[in-house]
Amino acid sequence: MSEAIQFDLFGEQQHPQAGFTPPASDPERIPQDASQPISPGTYRDLAHLTDHCHQCQRCGLATTRTHVVVSRGNPQAPLMVVGEGPGQQEDETGRPFVGKAGQLLDKILASVGFDSERDVYICNVVKCRPPGNRNPEPDEVAACKGYLLEQIRLINPKVILMTGAVALQSLLGEKNGITKVRGTWYEWQGHLCMPILHPAYLLRNQSREPGSPKWLTWQDMKTVRARIDDLLQVS
Ligand code: URA
Ligand code: URA
Repeated sequence: MSEAIQFDLFGEQQHPQAGFTPPASDPERIPQDASQPISPGTYRDLAHLTDHCHQCQRCGLATTRTHVVVSRGNPQAPLMVVGEGPGQQEDETGRPFVGKAGQLLDKILASVGFDSERDVYICNVVKCRPPGNRNPEPDEVAACKGYLLEQIRLINPKVILMTGAVALQSLLGEKNGITKVRGTWYEWQGHLCMPILHPAYLLRNQSREPGSPKWLTWQDMKTVRARIDDLLQVS
């Protein structure tokens, strides 16, 4: 082989014999096999996605869960809340943010006039409870992430509120700490996103003094409310 032909093999053009097409993923195997990617556009609607989540065995959390926790609230809402993962009450009921942290989340939303069933769509990074409420492992987040991305695509919210460090890191890959970046806007794939402190963290920090975690979250929520009001006015 001449040097010119050899070097040509480094080029962009595909030689016919090099044209290997990997087998297409089988959408119906998605819930059974984490090696099957959940490509954008996999789900025609939320019912189809929810059906897959309910039969999902993509990671080890499937073996310890009671219920898969997909979402609550309004799929037409302008605001989407992404939490970390189900806790005990969520696992028992199949609904996100219904325990103590969830009740505080409802109050945080209500403080700026958002009703958590009417004005918000609520979900989590992982759909099954990590045992003992540990953080989800990277492989669990990876196995479940496609479902979240499809939820975001289908809901198409104006604003995504990420509660806590796990949501921030899983969705945006942000390594900076949540206490540093909370309250700041991110633009991600055409969506405005804001990280806020996790309500479970607020439960451990009861002060409402200026500068306290609760007070900071109240400022962040006022910022979110104002932005959504602006966006709804112009659209
Ligand atoms: N914490 C979360 O992050 N999500 C829930 O659904 C409940 C508690
Ligand atoms: N640390 C966290 O993990 N989450 C918070 O919301 C605040 C501090």
